[in-house]
Amino acid sequence: MKANIYIETLGCQMNVVDTERAFTRLCEAGHDPTASSKSADVVIFNTCSVRARAAQKVFTRIGEVLKDRQGNRPLIGVMGCVAQLEGEALFDGTAKIDFVVGTGATDRLSGIVEKALEGRKRVLDLGERAVEGAWSVSAVARHSPLVAFVPIIEGCNKFCSYCIVPFSRGREKSRPAAEIIEEVLRLRSEGFREIHLIGQNVNSYRPGTDAGLEGIAGATPFSRLLRAVAKTDMERIKFTTSFPRDFHKDIMTAIDENENLCDWVHLPVQSGSDRVLRAMRRGYKIKDYLEKVAFIKSARRRVALTSDIIVGFPNETAEEFAETLHLAENCQYDSLYIFKYSERPGTAAANFADSVSKQEKAERFLALESLQHKIQKRVLGEYVGREVQVLVEGESARSRLDLTGHSTCHKVVNFPGHPSQIGKVVKVLITAAKENSLYGIGLAS
Ligand code: 5AD
Ligand code: SF4
Repeated sequence: MKANIYIETLGCQMNVVDTERAFTRLCEAGHDPTASSKSADVVIFNTCSVRARAAQKVFTRIGEVLKDRQGNRPLIGVMGCVAQLEGEALFDGTAKIDFVVGTGATDRLSGIVEKALEGRKRVLDLGERAVEGAWSVSAVARHSPLVAFVPIIEGCNKFCSYCIVPFSRGREKSRPAAEIIEEVLRLRSEGFREIHLIGQNVNSYRPGTDAGLEGIAGATPFSRLLRAVAKTDMERIKFTTSFPRDFHKDIMTAIDENENLCDWVHLPVQSGSDRVLRAMRRGYKIKDYLEKVAFIKSARRRVALTSDIIVGFPNETAEEFAETLHLAENCQYDSLYIFKYSERPGTAAANFADSVSKQEKAERFLALESLQHKIQKRVLGEYVGREVQVLVEGESARSRLDLTGHSTCHKVVNFPGHPSQIGKVVKVLITAAKENSLYGIGLAS
């Protein structure tokens, strides 16, 4: 039985790729993707569980979709991290879910959907990712015709005390370099202009084989992979996320050597206090982190630095939070993702006593946000008068006269232009810094 299938992606880039993989397999099986939940026979939510609010979102969205579809109920499926963690229990909630697909079962989705279409109830697959070549994605299923996400490592072995990812995504599995390079070469021939090598911790990359890296020098498998990918001549190569403890200086040497390795590093610090970092089980001290930041800041090009910070971790004192403010001031991040600590059942930190009130967590969030605003104003202000290379991705949502895209340093850049420039790389002279983006005038393609 063939069906129109809608998938809504919540959460991180890994979920974006899993949705692409899911659509690839569903199309191979003869199903049709659809962009609207209103007409779909099957509605699937690809879920995130990193914070309580994200995990809750799927239930809100199921309610909204069903309200819209009264009298014409589609089949409802849940995939991704919430599916993996909650499993069978999802069938017993009020949401009336028809099938549940764990993070390892994306490639078996079409078989699961078909069983549900035949009328089978409570169809469940929480099994391991099995098939060879299970990473492949067809060009039409990609989220963008210009920018592609290429997973190089999945899962996480770090077990930071607050984090659910090792439970929802399992242990680290690195993809063979030869396969990654082959995919990048294919993306280049399909016309993609930018790739992001993605993974929970890209720089913990450790493939079981050297295939694809023969003859490529470097201090770590990841810096060798960067050099090998740079050799494909893909125009722009970005990578995220890097784990501080595994951030070897050779990554910056590889960036210095290769213009197509972009000038941006995302290096989540999580806290500015050594005591909190220890309780988080991050495996580094602030002194070590600052050493890595110094490598980044001493690169030949100015390399943009972004980070994640959790405020209100259990028992974080006012002094420890002040250390986080101090660190943010010290690092001068180009942008910062700030999160209020969210307790995740099953993690080590869920058992920690907590003396930080809800109000204190909210106040700390606002204090760090306001400091970052000031820092960003200064950091983005420094771009005024400079030229950046922008990959034009579309028209700006704010003004139809403006185009929007990203710079190599991963800033959103808007500038007046013509839709015929979409898909091109344009040199833009920055004339103004906005709160979270840059504005300029296009000089040449
Ligand atoms: N509470 C708050 N933030 C969290 N993150 C991960 N787990 C939690 C949690 N339990 C944040 C971290 C991570 C980012 C992706 O999400 O900052 O880097
Ligand atoms: Fe979570 Fe830590 Fe792994 Fe990142 S490194 S996914 S924060 S456990």
